[in-house]
Amino acid sequence: AQPLRLGIAGLGTVGIGVVKIVQRHAAMLAARSGRPVTITAVSARDRTKNRDADLSDYAWETDPVALATREDVDVFVELMGGHEGPAKEATEAALKAGKDVVTANKALLAHHGQALAELAESLGRTIRYEAAVAGGIPVIKSLTEGLAGNGMRRVMGVMNGTCNYILTRMEEAGLPYDTVFEEARQLGYLEADPNLDVGGIDAGHKLAILAAIAFGTQVSFDDVVLEGIGRISIDDIRRAGDMGYKIKLLGVAQMTGRGLEQRMTPCLVPSSSPLGQLSGGTNMVVLEGDSVGQIVLRGAGAGEGPTASAVMGDVMDLARGMRLPVFGQPAASLATPTPAVTAIA
Ligand code: NAP
Ligand code: HSE
Repeated sequence: AQPLRLGIAGLGTVGIGVVKIVQRHAAMLAARSGRPVTITAVSARDRTKNRDADLSDYAWETDPVALATREDVDVFVELMGGHEGPAKEATEAALKAGKDVVTANKALLAHHGQALAELAESLGRTIRYEAAVAGGIPVIKSLTEGLAGNGMRRVMGVMNGTCNYILTRMEEAGLPYDTVFEEARQLGYLEADPNLDVGGIDAGHKLAILAAIAFGTQVSFDDVVLEGIGRISIDDIRRAGDMGYKIKLLGVAQMTGRGLEQRMTPCLVPSSSPLGQLSGGTNMVVLEGDSVGQIVLRGAGAGEGPTASAVMGDVMDLARGMRLPVFGQPAASLATPTPAVTAIA
């Protein structure tokens, strides 16, 4: 069988994780998909960096667009990050050159997912992005495959591990926000721009993508009501605890009679609920369908192995010839969002 040939742009945490899986599980991947999955070329900024993987068999391209358009690449795997510049340019170039794309880049999809989806579909190509939402948790596949026969009522979840770490650490150690924020920085948890985490933006990107899949709509990040965790005090957390609640940065998307509601805001959740019991940097997504009822998915939302696992799930879909529509149709957005602090049942 013809191999599926990958070109990987970005050899950081996730990119190297993908290289390791392809190398470690070559025989298993071929057996499961019916064809070899190989890497032909890779790209990053600095060729001299020590990267904890043997890359000597692969062609090197410093320019990601050159990698994305190589004749010996079937799938462009975009793992650079950023929603403008090289990630967007190389993704567009790959699609125009007839490649399918796999990406973990939630910012790119939240800002340009619709245009990229339309470009892909007009060219008969596809973009897969399981790793962009909740890292290793296969939530996109759950919605598009296992739950395909359900009308979705609501999707919600904790989708930023750093915020969940900060909130649970404040609660468990009784430490103020500023102290725990600094601790998170020292531990290397925060994004280069910390406001992406604590401002709720990263989690908002993920919710916009998830909502589009759950409700068959276009990705509409501008319509996500966003409030970060920077104003949560230790007193807020104590008072919530006294009433039997935890405070979580919770994303909720639901289709109402007035349109699609999307909000990523601090919420009160019952302490005894699965969401209330989620501590540390873990993610949890709750899916509610009209036939299946409620499903709770919990797991690592970040890190080399979990995120590369999700990327490879998409690669395997492409190796097997699975081609699903990327996103859905435009939806009316709710004009009057619900208040920022909400108690969730
Ligand atoms: P990272 O460790 O910072 O790695 C980024 C890689 O991209 C580096 O190898 C870098 O090259 C390369 N790169 C950046 N700009 C480039 C350019 N202009 N040309 C060529 N290469 C370029 O990032 P990461 O954590 O692996 O994240 C990658 C993507 O996955 C992002 O979209 C991120 O949001 C997403 N994601 C990450 C996680 C996670 O746990 N890390 C989880 C979910 C989703 P150099 O190494 O030479 O600098
Ligand atoms: N900054 C993100 C988080 C990384 O803390 O969840 C994974 O997307």
